[in-house]
Amino acid sequence: MEDLTWEWAERLAVDYVQGILQPTPTCDTWEQIWNFQARPDDLLISTYPKAGTTWTQEIVDLIQNKCDVGRSQRAPTHERFPFIEWKIPTMESGLEQANAMPSPRTLKTHLPIQLLPPSLLEKNCKMIYVARNPKDNMVSYYHFHRMNKALPAPGTWEEYFENFLAGKVCWGSWYDHVKGWWDARHQHRILYLFYEDMKRNPKHEIQKLAEFIGKSLDDKVLDKIVHHTSFDVMKQNPMANYSSVPTEIMNQSISPFMRKGAVGDWKNHFTVAQNERFEDNYRKRMADSSLASRFHF
Ligand code: A3P
Repeated sequence: MEDLTWEWAERLAVDYVQGILQPTPTCDTWEQIWNFQARPDDLLISTYPKAGTTWTQEIVDLIQNKCDVGRSQRAPTHERFPFIEWKIPTMESGLEQANAMPSPRTLKTHLPIQLLPPSLLEKNCKMIYVARNPKDNMVSYYHFHRMNKALPAPGTWEEYFENFLAGKVCWGSWYDHVKGWWDARHQHRILYLFYEDMKRNPKHEIQKLAEFIGKSLDDKVLDKIVHHTSFDVMKQNPMANYSSVPTEIMNQSISPFMRKGAVGDWKNHFTVAQNERFEDNYRKRMADSSLASRFHF
């Protein structure tokens, strides 16, 4: 394992998997993860970490049950949506959860597309990908590392900034992740969404999600879903705000899971020099992709 500047005490191990830094599953091996057997009616929600996974999960759940809020509060997010590559001590692994779950299942992953269990592609499962602008994504990920013992400690903001740009963070480079899924969107059944669009016009994006999932919802139901998946309502929802995860794993007094839910918080973190360095890096790394102009920050 490469020597990173992070401290490891009490934290899960990480290792490189096909060149991509990954938390090491403590029970399921990568062999088991890649042998995961998808079912044709599985729906997958995929994101780079901190791009709006939980928000999308809540929207999808409410779409699937026609906005029966009580039903969506049947269990915390991490029990409703198996996280296929995840295993931390004391909890069932994502694979165990998924295998025990009746169909139709909605699964979660942060895997770059090349590390996805092949069965999900072979079975032609529907997949939702949500991307978030990299500046806010980086800030959100930094604060998540601070409060989440299941990830390496982030070091200082300056150190984290460099590690993020170099792709030396769990689940790898943001650039490779968003571009990999973008390039695959026409070969597979992928709905590619943007966090900033969801903030700007949640009803429109929820409607798109409903059509993709194959549910037709009337205007009143759509409005209700917009309300129940707003940041303020989700922050108060114990089944969506991760408050059921023990403090020893997620310490929300360091940084809440539902932190700000805003576009542009990077302005409170980036120095002028960091911003210039970032913009230069972005121009170079995105020059080969039609995605370059899609992110607004
Ligand atoms: P911030 O840290 O910027 O606040 P994920 O679910 O992928 O881990 O992403 C978490 C990020 O999404 C956090 O960002 C969180 O606040 C934000 N988020 C969660 N629910 C949201 C909602 N309903 N509306 C807007 N942002 C939300």
